[in-house]
Amino acid sequence: MIKVGIIGVGTVGASVVNILKENADVISARAGVDIVAKSGVVKNLNKDRSYLGIKISDNVDDILNDDEIDIVVELMGGVEEPFEVVKRALKSGKAVVTANKALLAYHRYELQEMAQDIAFEYEASVAGGIPIINALRDGLSANHIESIMGIMNGTCNYMMTKMTNEGVAYNDILKEAQELGYAESDPTFDVGGYDAAHKLLILASIAYGIDAKPEDILIEGIQNVSQDDISFAKEFGYVIKLLGIAKKDKNEVELRVHACLIKKQEMIAKIDGVMNGISVVGDKVGETLYYGPGAGGDATASAVVANIIDIARSGKSKPMLGFDKPMEGKLTLKATDDIESKYYIRINVSDKKGVLARITKIFEDNNISVETMLQRPSLANSANLLISTHIAYERDIQTMMKEIEKLEFVNFAPVMIRIV
Ligand SMILES: NC(=O)c1ccc[n+]([C@@H]2O[C@H](COP(=O)([O-])OP(=O)(O)OC[C@H]3O[C@@H](n4cnc5c(N)ncnc54)[C@H](OP(=O)(O)O)[C@@H]3O)[C@@H](O)[C@H]2O)c1
Repeated sequence: MIKVGIIGVGTVGASVVNILKENADVISARAGVDIVAKSGVVKNLNKDRSYLGIKISDNVDDILNDDEIDIVVELMGGVEEPFEVVKRALKSGKAVVTANKALLAYHRYELQEMAQDIAFEYEASVAGGIPIINALRDGLSANHIESIMGIMNGTCNYMMTKMTNEGVAYNDILKEAQELGYAESDPTFDVGGYDAAHKLLILASIAYGIDAKPEDILIEGIQNVSQDDISFAKEFGYVIKLLGIAKKDKNEVELRVHACLIKKQEMIAKIDGVMNGISVVGDKVGETLYYGPGAGGDATASAVVANIIDIARSGKSKPMLGFDKPMEGKLTLKATDDIESKYYIRINVSDKKGVLARITKIFEDNNISVETMLQRPSLANSANLLISTHIAYERDIQTMMKEIEKLEFVNFAPVMIRIV
């Protein structure tokens, strides 16, 4: 029998306990051995957990020092505290399963180094219930990965879908997402793109062996997307989504998270609501698409339990981040300034003579060529200029945006959304 200790028995932890009990028949048959949740650790012992039917304490030592526990499941959240807990579990030779993307975004390489032959699995850390890590690490291991592009944050996707389909304003839909429990009371982590970035960094390690931290990559959220942008997108056959993008360009890899205009016929553009969807292009397989629930107790616990079964079957670790040794001609992270894209830009200007000529000149001076330009009336005596560009460098766009913001007839900081 394999015994599991769960550190953090909240939304996901409680679902892990339930699935191990409710699906014990299929789990035991698939693993070839019975698997039971022996005990759990929580912060607050005053909450009633009797319905779980396992021993609960508020001391991690009760699991870490228990010789009967084979697998430690970390579901407490955070970065440094779980890092200490997981290190101790590995030191005592216990296998580890986690769903904690923040922990992995910062410490995955140290954990891989420590784990060596001890199993360390983390399927639920990216896109909850979708087995994307398994697909990338095992199913597609014969391929050079050309790109990964996906909706990795269900909260943002829910908000963008509602803004697009029902015309709801950003602040109203954010409030609704909080009330429904999709967004945290401090929603920055989701709407600011950080949660998606953590997941992208994990995937980039498996696909490319890239060791980057959130601070190293371009991360923007959806806070500045307005109904003006959405109606421009509709008019030109696009939808707006928050995407995580990893793209190989020769021996460099660009990593970025930001709102994107995507052609509405693309498969990713059709993924609506809280669902996640990730497209992975391999040089041999072509495009593959993974779709499903990116969060929720049972969906996430489904991936956690799959990892537990996998460990119970073999007891041995695969290379945690998918590479047994560094690849020859190692790939490096592309500098943010060198990223190339098409861009959409919204500039709110006072309706005066000569405005267009001044703006066009700044575009030209920064080597940015305009593809389409629309002018829409805005508040009294002002107008929104909605501009899309041909391919340009990120560094040129950033310089141009600063120059435009300084113009006396520009009313607010201009908004830019990249076009995929
Ligand atoms: N929820 C999802 O849909 C989802 C999806 C994918 C990944 N994840 C990841 O899964 C992990 C757990 O998420 P969750 O939604 O289950 O969180 P949660 O509901 O907040 O549960 C966290 C649990 O950890 C316990 N805990 C927190 N700090 C602790 C400490 N210092 N010592 C002992 N126990 C502690 C809490 O105790 P109390 O109950 O006493 O407060 C609670 O039981 C996170 O890393 C999250 O990012 C979650």
